[in-house]
Amino acid sequence: MPGIIILSLFLYLCQAPAATQQIKPVICHDHSRSCFNLGSAYFSVNGLIKMIEILTSSYSRRTFSKSHLTELDLGCGKGGYLLSLAELFPDRVIVGADVMLGRLRKIQKKIDRNNLKNVQLLRINAWNLIGYGLPDHSISRMHILCPDPWPKVRHRSKRLISSEFLGRAAQKIVPGGILHLSTDDDQYYSFMLDAITQLPCYKKANHAIDDIRHCKTDFELRFERTGLNVNHLSYITVS
Ligand SMILES: C[S@@+](CC[C@H](N)C(=O)[O-])C[C@H]1O[C@@H](n2cnc3c(N)ncnc32)[C@H](O)[C@@H]1O
Repeated sequence: MPGIIILSLFLYLCQAPAATQQIKPVICHDHSRSCFNLGSAYFSVNGLIKMIEILTSSYSRRTFSKSHLTELDLGCGKGGYLLSLAELFPDRVIVGADVMLGRLRKIQKKIDRNNLKNVQLLRINAWNLIGYGLPDHSISRMHILCPDPWPKVRHRSKRLISSEFLGRAAQKIVPGGILHLSTDDDQYYSFMLDAITQLPCYKKANHAIDDIRHCKTDFELRFERTGLNVNHLSYITVS
């Protein structure tokens, strides 16, 4: 254990700004004061404990325990959707992940106010989460809802959804688990559909989100108010 603490401090002190761009496993866990950001000045004993947990994978084991169904809202934004899920499924673990720390802090306040015990927030880039942050086969249902569409052709490479991303995501979902996508952008929708149809690890399953069709994300509600339709896709993973 002392070795791990020294290694943790060493990594914290030595990281270069370039590296912090890629590695931002900030956990907003029990309280916003326990937020720990490898790339900023936030630091606390709770934060150090969290970092040790991350480095030793005990955080993953605890959060993504196989005894509970786990739903992940990836790019959770203001968190309206994950809060609905948390109230609807008190026996499930609801994980929200986003890069925007300010948004996560506001969600954490709502979690505290509503005394929700089944939500975990992660500040992390989706690619890092899918790449190394999540144990394989740990998510029962993954929601990637209204991701930024980047409609201009020159910005397309910034889109989150791609064949590679979907392939990696499948590894993180339990076999027979669900991937739920949505977008208001027709071109992004076709792009998502093309990409996922080509992957043999997914099979279309419209019924897989029947229990949550009435739940809307903050963006979906905003789009609906302006008359825009949001299209949903749902798939189960097959091994
Ligand atoms: C258009 S908003 C949608 C938010 C929410 N899903 C909704 O529908 O209301 C996209 C969200 O994804 C987050 N995001 C964008 N790229 C991301 C990435 N690479 N990793 C994690 N979150 C990301 C943004 O910070 C933003 O909160």
